[in-house]
Amino acid sequence: MKTEDVTVERVELQINGETISVDVKPAALLLDVLRELGLQGAKRGCETSHCGACTVLLDGRAVHSCVVLALRAEGKEIATIEGLGADGELHDLQKYFLKFGALQCGYCTPGMILAGKALVDHNPKPTLQDVRTALDGNLCRCTGYTSIFNAVLAYAESRGKE
Ligand code: FES
Ligand code: FES
Repeated sequence: MKTEDVTVERVELQINGETISVDVKPAALLLDVLRELGLQGAKRGCETSHCGACTVLLDGRAVHSCVVLALRAEGKEIATIEGLGADGELHDLQKYFLKFGALQCGYCTPGMILAGKALVDHNPKPTLQDVRTALDGNLCRCTGYTSIFNAVLAYAESRGKE
């Protein structure tokens, strides 16, 4: 059998609140499917679940999309960085990343933001250690982590005041 003959399956993925029908091969990775759909905020880094550049949310939980089969994401809510803001406005956590200068190359930033959001959604009052733990699957080799952690903490604090 030639590789191009591999069966594709039509799945309906819930991405950023929209239902999208897409043909996927059984071994297709969620990262590849998202990027082929034009959602390129999730980046291809290590491809081995070590760097976090490919992080997206699945049912609100941060996952490394380079090790998730697209078929496994069917029936789950997928959130990517593209769906985070609303009405042309950045999400508040994105604003805190800007305010704290918590980015440099930007390659790792979407994953950091999504991991930070997942944390604060589940734990509205995280400690610094909670933030460190939540982001320990997201590597940044250029800024140092202090600004990133501070941005997430400030965002959590701001939400507590709402
Ligand atoms: S590309 Fe997925 S964790 Fe690095
Ligand atoms: S902002 Fe990309 S590696 Fe740090």
